[in-house]
Amino acid sequence: RLAFVDLQPPDPILGVSEAFKRDTNDLKLNLGVGAYRTEDLKPYVLNVVKKAEKIMLESEENKEYLPIQGLEAFNKATAELLLGADNAAVKEGRVATLQSLSGTGSLRVAADFIAKFLPGTTAYLSNPTWGNHKNIFADAGVEWKWYRYFDAATVGLDFEGLMEDIRAAPEGSVIVLHGCAHNPTGVDPTREQWQQIADLVIEKNHLPFFDVAYQGFASGSLDDDAWAPRYFVSRGMEVIVAQSYSKNLGLYAERVGAINFVLADAEAAKRVMSQLKRIARALYSNPPVHGARIASLVVSRPELFAEWNEEMEYMSGRIKTVRQDLYDELVKLNGDKDWSFILRQLGMFSFTGLNPAQVENMTNKHHVYMTKDGRISLAGLPSSKAAYLAAAIDDSFRN
Ligand code: LMR
Repeated sequence: RLAFVDLQPPDPILGVSEAFKRDTNDLKLNLGVGAYRTEDLKPYVLNVVKKAEKIMLESEENKEYLPIQGLEAFNKATAELLLGADNAAVKEGRVATLQSLSGTGSLRVAADFIAKFLPGTTAYLSNPTWGNHKNIFADAGVEWKWYRYFDAATVGLDFEGLMEDIRAAPEGSVIVLHGCAHNPTGVDPTREQWQQIADLVIEKNHLPFFDVAYQGFASGSLDDDAWAPRYFVSRGMEVIVAQSYSKNLGLYAERVGAINFVLADAEAAKRVMSQLKRIARALYSNPPVHGARIASLVVSRPELFAEWNEEMEYMSGRIKTVRQDLYDELVKLNGDKDWSFILRQLGMFSFTGLNPAQVENMTNKHHVYMTKDGRISLAGLPSSKAAYLAAAIDDSFRN
């Protein structure tokens, strides 16, 4: 009966990790998935995470179901981390926050909400965007379209194209924005540009929907990285924000995140919350508790919070160092090409401009695993491999 089912190609990002595992060459390097590695290429469990787990073990937490909306202490901490503890919307109870399954699950809950309550509304995604955005909206039954974002000629933001496309979108469209450290390009709007985007979103009565997966990873500062969504909220708009703790707390496999709806008043927040719960109940019933306990302890205990900030600065600092190393090595190999885009890009990734055939050369000849769009995760690069990577990139560009 199911003989007609076609083979689905591997996932563009997680499929790269599967291919990497199959490669037996010692030189292999996985720069596909955005996951932080130490200089020795080991996964990194943050010290604050270990400390929080010790506290949890000592207090003999149970394994009862969480409420559908998740751990109350986590939801309070996460909304405050995102918007600021003294944010008016938080204080006025206008934010509906539901703990969900990291970024993907949080985005999906909101996408289902859009399908249910704003039927026929199109979600506009930056071209390019994180590969899973398309899947999430499509599977929720929300039509999606592109808005222009990346300008290959300048290796920067196509701000005019972005503004034109957001202006041309029908009134009341959902505009999906990356809060900071745009994935995959590493190119963010300036604050001045964000202000102009906000003006236009208000003028067109669009619904801004931020994906904040890298808070603390772009600049090393949690507050600076939340500037854009906070600014939109300060302009009095209804705003949706998905959060993930996969990268900034290294809780990838724990699936910790939240979906926040900032609304006009506390009554609306209560009603929206009831609907988010209804959606989550059918999708996965209630969220996992372990990672949420870790995150709420780290965010709410001052001594853990301070240490977390130090560890995040350390991680984002290491990525900046390898960015510089890669740049220096590439300049040595080919000083005629302008490589400065690597230093300008923010966050975990560099968008190299390698085309799919060149990416194939990177993988088949040099055992460097990366996504077909030309993105490399610098979080997976040790300094000691920067010269090797530069040689592979230089060779592939000459191919
Ligand atoms: C990535 O873009 O590599 C990460 O967000 C991991 C993922 O789930 O795709």
